[in-house]
Amino acid sequence: MSKMNLKVNGKQYEVDVDPSTPVLWVLRDHLNLIGTKFGCGVGSCGACTIHLNGRALKSCQLPVSAVGTQAITTIEGIVAEMGELHPVQKAWLELDVAQCGYCQTGQIMAAVALLKTKPNPTDEEIESAMTGNLCRCGTYIRIKAAIHQAAKSSTK
Ligand code: FES
Ligand code: FES
Repeated sequence: MSKMNLKVNGKQYEVDVDPSTPVLWVLRDHLNLIGTKFGCGVGSCGACTIHLNGRALKSCQLPVSAVGTQAITTIEGIVAEMGELHPVQKAWLELDVAQCGYCQTGQIMAAVALLKTKPNPTDEEIESAMTGNLCRCGTYIRIKAAIHQAAKSSTK
């Protein structure tokens, strides 16, 4: 075990964990931030996507010791950051994107990160950025439409 300081959603936390623990489990089991989901645990599904310094990343593959002073953002922080629902979340609701919902945290985190670097992405750019986020319910068409809608509402 080892004590580490983590910056998550703008707050400082001290955790006492094995340095090799994946960030996913630190978030869920130690900080009670359970919006980030465990899907495959091997970096294949994207359910565990978070942001590290604004970049989308699979938290099941990230040992907590590798985080250092970098800022972690989870789905809970996306809401707080804006003071209201993020344009991506609003578009998700408006277009009824979710089906079972399990993959949707990861999808939203990947979409928010994409729009930071590409505010008006093409279909191809969306497909390429979202390729690591799987949805067993097949909501891909609505995900793409919601990303376009969020892009439009953000540039109004
Ligand atoms: S749980 Fe991390 S990629 Fe599937
Ligand atoms: S909404 Fe069910 S897995 Fe994506």
